[in-house]
Amino acid sequence: MIFWRVKPLDQILATAEKKSLKRQLGPIQLTLLGIGAVIGTGIFVLTAEAAQKAGPGMMLSFVIAAIVCGLAALAYAELAAMVPVSGSAYTYSYGVMGELVAWIVGWALVLEYAIGATAVCVGWSGYVNGLLNSGVFGLVKPGALSLPHWLQVGPTLGGGFNLLAFLIGVAVTGLLVIGTSKSARVNAALVAIKIIALTAFVVIAVPAVRNANLHPFLPTGWGNPLGSNGIGVLGAAASIFFAYVGFDAVSTAAEETRNPNRNIPIGLIGALLICTIFYLLVGYGAAGSVGAQPLTNAAGAFLDPGTPSFAAACGNSQALVCSREPLAQVMSTLGHPWIAILIEAAAIVALPSVILVMMFGQTRIFFTMSRDGLLPNMFSRVHPKFFTPHVITYITGTVVSLCAALFPVGKLADTSNAGTLLAFAMVSVGVMILRRTQPGRKRPFRTPLVWIVCPLAVAGCLLLFVNLSGVAKGVFLAWAAIGLVFYRLYGYRRSQMSPEQITQALEDVA
Ligand code: ALA
Repeated sequence: MIFWRVKPLDQILATAEKKSLKRQLGPIQLTLLGIGAVIGTGIFVLTAEAAQKAGPGMMLSFVIAAIVCGLAALAYAELAAMVPVSGSAYTYSYGVMGELVAWIVGWALVLEYAIGATAVCVGWSGYVNGLLNSGVFGLVKPGALSLPHWLQVGPTLGGGFNLLAFLIGVAVTGLLVIGTSKSARVNAALVAIKIIALTAFVVIAVPAVRNANLHPFLPTGWGNPLGSNGIGVLGAAASIFFAYVGFDAVSTAAEETRNPNRNIPIGLIGALLICTIFYLLVGYGAAGSVGAQPLTNAAGAFLDPGTPSFAAACGNSQALVCSREPLAQVMSTLGHPWIAILIEAAAIVALPSVILVMMFGQTRIFFTMSRDGLLPNMFSRVHPKFFTPHVITYITGTVVSLCAALFPVGKLADTSNAGTLLAFAMVSVGVMILRRTQPGRKRPFRTPLVWIVCPLAVAGCLLLFVNLSGVAKGVFLAWAAIGLVFYRLYGYRRSQMSPEQITQALEDVA
């Protein structure tokens, strides 16, 4: 009996109606919001990781991850149009599958958003360190401004404390506390910068593709569909999935959207489509122009990226798989230092906005869960001057910044993916349940071929999940176990939907 305490959808909708934020976002702004949240560390940094896992076959990994996201986006669009309220997968689950499932999804979303933000902090630091190491656009001698190696990367890569990743986490936390939420115009400018940088990359890299660079095409094979510990095309797909995460940010803006029933699906699917086209071209250009063969150890075994042995094997290698700023490096290798600088600059300027969106999402999910009584009240305390949930922002910011200083980007992204995959699968299950339980409810957007699309989305999420690295799966399971214990000891009794709290509320009224 896991589907208890289902919060009626009409109650969720009525609460949102009362809050009535100004509805001002249209389809173009929504698509831009989605692209702004999606293009980030995944394509700018994890391309190297995907190459180490799959070689040139990573192009197929981009396709597989895009298909899984596309299927999930179709399901998201139905729920987001039907229940256009904030809170995303957590709120939908509460309204369809009840409190326990909502709790599990909300808890998993912590991984998606907080650990996702952490991964982007580390990705950003790779580009800034690259810029400092190269002498900042030729202004000083290369290396003159470099940080000591132990402050450039975390312990697993032979460093100690990734200072810049830590500092960007702290800076974004500060912005969130004083209430900086990006304006649609700033977002549009940042999206333009990223699109220009990726377009420049594609225009140079794609014509430079040579067939020889694409052989062997599948050096590590496909991986095992039943679980590959992160190797092969499937392992790379599970990692590169991170590059697509964030399109669901569109659904969190539902309450601020004009005609959400039409515009939310356009924004979700439009953002995903545009990013997919870019990613496929970038993946093809990167692997085909400079080669993308994975590194092996002396015994011929493929090395796991983000581990000390991999870092040692890389040394000062200029190989794509070793780079912490792979897209810029491809441009330098192809003899286009100015485009490399453009890409570096675009990543440095634009990645912080992805961190902002993810940390914002995290604090708002915690806020909603706390308002529902599942987390302590303290978490929804609002700053007297800035009107932001400062307590939870400080807690989230501290954890994000410290993890960013210590852990490697790929393992963080994998862990974030584990949480996201669970949320995506639950949304797809939710769509199917609602089709059965509330067939008459108005559905402004209907998932096409729902009985094929939704089961395939769930299967796709499962396939990618089992192919994540062992570390990510382990962290996910430990996190889920902690969550369930916490729910039993706290949320179960304190929930606004618990009999005790309802009785208490009735007594208060009387
Ligand atoms: N998709 C986002 C990124 O790649 C999270 O940074």
